[in-house]
Amino acid sequence: MSNGVGIARAYPNMALVKYWGKRDEAMMLPAAGSISMTFDTYATTTRVELDPTAQSDTVELNGQVAGGDAAARVVAFLDIVREMAGSQSRAHTVTVNEAPTAAGLASSASGFSALAVAASRAYGLDLDQAALSRLARRGSGSAARSVVDGMAIWHAGDTDVESFAEPIDAPDMRLVIVTVNAAQKAVSSREAMRRTAATSPFYGEWVTCTEETLERMVAACASGGVDEIGRIAETHALRMHAVIQSCDPPIRYLSPRSHEIFDAVAALRDAGTTAWATADAGPNVAVLTTPAEADAVAGALADLGTVRVVGPGHGARAIDEETARAAFD
Ligand code: ADP
Ligand code: DP6
Ligand code: CO
Repeated sequence: MSNGVGIARAYPNMALVKYWGKRDEAMMLPAAGSISMTFDTYATTTRVELDPTAQSDTVELNGQVAGGDAAARVVAFLDIVREMAGSQSRAHTVTVNEAPTAAGLASSASGFSALAVAASRAYGLDLDQAALSRLARRGSGSAARSVVDGMAIWHAGDTDVESFAEPIDAPDMRLVIVTVNAAQKAVSSREAMRRTAATSPFYGEWVTCTEETLERMVAACASGGVDEIGRIAETHALRMHAVIQSCDPPIRYLSPRSHEIFDAVAALRDAGTTAWATADAGPNVAVLTTPAEADAVAGALADLGTVRVVGPGHGARAIDEETARAAFD
């Protein structure tokens, strides 16, 4: 039984095979499958409390009352949960991101996976991991993967039931996150994805290429090394940015500083280090490396941005009031 309160913690994830395009936006089915690593740092903490007397939902994001699109996305998500639970109750949602919000460090992934766990508990739903992943997907596609520990594969699926993430075995790896700009991106991932599908002449090729890349990445995770995984991930990331830059009007998420980091990573490789760069929809770069080399890679890139080493972490899960309070204070 639920007491009308649900509290959860989740982490962002960085895609090594990118999700960029939807085949069905209403159901949030992706054009192709994807693979990512869920972080062990940059938590999102979310608390949902039902209020049967309230006329509307309230949302507080990072200490401020949310309005506009941010609140609308949470309310739309809660509507899905209410429908599943057969409830009319409005709710008060409080959420805090440790990572920058809307800056290409997957705040929508940590945000909606935490909300999936918190809201489903508040409304008294008992969902297994696949069902939570499917629910999180409805809030933000990438959130489907943050429900899973460590490396996750999101199967595109043809239907709602088939489109969820699950764990995939891979070598132990680290990501060095290089933050160069924590500001909110000019165009959200949602809008940029729409524009790419609608206007890029290369979009069809991108989807086909992602399907092929996914197969190669699955094989590399099973039997390849970090260099093979990194090589596939870096090429694929730049292809995603290429297709994004080819839309009309064009969108460029990578900044001159991001490119400098890609160059610095190539120089590290020339010097014999395992290091491969990737970036989601924003200027901030993640560098894939081995556990043994992570601190040296972070040191080598520290002049180019704020560096943080992250490893594979926990999928979204419930936490207690006391743990949450520390995050909200
Ligand atoms: P990002 O690269 O950070 O994932 P997106 O454009 O995909 O950027 O999504 C950012 C949006 O996700 C925010 O503007 C907000 O609407 C939503 N979001 C971010 N964090 C949270 C959160 N903790 N709870 C609910 N929604 C969130
Ligand atoms: C570049 O999941 O943020 O990070 O599903 O519209 O909420 P919506 O978009 P979102 O897009 C993520 C795009 C990406 C690649 C990835 O995470 O796979
Ligand atoms: Co996002």
